Amino acid sequence: MDNKIIIFDTTLRDGEQVPGCQLNTIEKIEVARQLESLGVDVIEAGFPISSPGDFQSVVEVSKSVEKPVICALTRAVKKDIEVAADSLKYAKRKRIHTGIGTSEYHINYKLKSNQQDVLSRAVESVRYARKFADDVEFYAEDAGRSDNEYLARVIEAVIKAGASTVNIPDTTGYCLPGEYGEKIAYLVNNVPNIDKAIISTHCHNDLGMATANTLAGVMNGARQVEVTINGIGERAGNTSLEEVVMAIRSHHDLDFEHGIDSRQIMRSSKLVSNLMRMPVQPNKAIVGRNAFAHSSGIHQDGVLKNRLNYEIIDPAEVGVRESTITLTARSGRAALNHHLQLLGYNLETNELDEVYNRFLDLADGKKDITEEDLEVLVGTKNKKGKRPVELVSLQVVSGKSTIPTATVQVSFKGDVFTETASGNGPIDASFTAVKNLVKRRVRLEEFLIQAITRGSDDIGKVHVQVEHKGKIYYGFAANTDIITASVESFLDAIGKIN
Ligand code: KIV
Ligand code: ZN
Repeated sequence: MDNKIIIFDTTLRDGEQVPGCQLNTIEKIEVARQLESLGVDVIEAGFPISSPGDFQSVVEVSKSVEKPVICALTRAVKKDIEVAADSLKYAKRKRIHTGIGTSEYHINYKLKSNQQDVLSRAVESVRYARKFADDVEFYAEDAGRSDNEYLARVIEAVIKAGASTVNIPDTTGYCLPGEYGEKIAYLVNNVPNIDKAIISTHCHNDLGMATANTLAGVMNGARQVEVTINGIGERAGNTSLEEVVMAIRSHHDLDFEHGIDSRQIMRSSKLVSNLMRMPVQPNKAIVGRNAFAHSSGIHQDGVLKNRLNYEIIDPAEVGVRESTITLTARSGRAALNHHLQLLGYNLETNELDEVYNRFLDLADGKKDITEEDLEVLVGTKNKKGKRPVELVSLQVVSGKSTIPTATVQVSFKGDVFTETASGNGPIDASFTAVKNLVKRRVRLEEFLIQAITRGSDDIGKVHVQVEHKGKIYYGFAANTDIITASVESFLDAIGKIN
């Protein structure tokens, strides 16, 4: 049996189902690009029938990444499959992931059906999906609590119908590792055509077993793992990518291969945690703040004598850097470049100059510049400075018992224009002034402000989506002044209208 493990990331689908963790399309593209750098094989980008936003995100992610297969989820419903196929039209390589519940609970109470009908629907949905994609994955929802003999019959039938991957989800996180491993072994031994498909694990963490179950699955013949960054997902979450990857990597005796560049793990973890506003617990394996911190005297002494005394993973392997050089307004280009290189950025001299100027602006208003701040500074590169419409100045008056008013000055093709407007708050007033200035019918569709790190002097990141003549334009800006960031992101989006 091949020892390559396919890494299927579902951060943007199962992970994103967590209440409060929803991402807008721009953020999904950012995560998808990072997943590509991390080296995942498959990105499950969404559940397109669930909302127009999810549909659009699958479309945009498909356009934005090259290497990974882009996967879209469906129920065993024709309309779902058609919509998923449509959302994948720009994907270089696409996969439709369709399925239905196979446990007694799902068949009797959710689907109000019977085993035979569910089997027929499973087969029909795979056949239908194959009309739109060569790569079709089938999931047997709640396989963890499904009867093995029936599950084997369903799996055999869907492989015959054209599924090349069969996903065995422990949807409720019920299984123990031995039990889940045996389930996979049962399928390996009792599904006659199993050699025609890859078995996939998809484990939830309700009993804290997701990583253990996934590894048990792999040891018994599964060759794809469905995982999320930081283990985010419904309820207690999904299997965490970093835990599975580093367990395989640390245990050479397991003799499995995968394409993950582990040095990108920390960056991926921080990006997902920041964008989803989902802090990582400090003692989380691999990516928690304390995962490599040794606090007791005995441990510190042991680590100083030899790291291997208390560390099974070199922090550098997962992209955790230790640096003693701190960045302040007095730091020079060399110090900035040093930090950027530790973060994995190698900038040309002119790019470094550009980032350095923005760094100085930021350092003037903020005492400690963190890695997150640097990521934002580099992330805004190529956007700031190239906007056709630039913010020259902004003055706002707001507060209790005051009518919020904004005076906005912008430059366009060398000329400077000024406008004053009022609104129900400083941002509304500023946006109205901008709209009056640009004289275009633009509608604000989405507006998201995030303070990315700690204190009140933090940078605010602002994402906007605006609509003009039926088309959507995205804007982004970051600044310690959130009203300035808001206006700049609005101008960024408007500047893209041609
Ligand atoms: O947990 C689950 O069963 C799922 C399927 C929809 C794949 O997420
Ligand atoms: Zn799931």
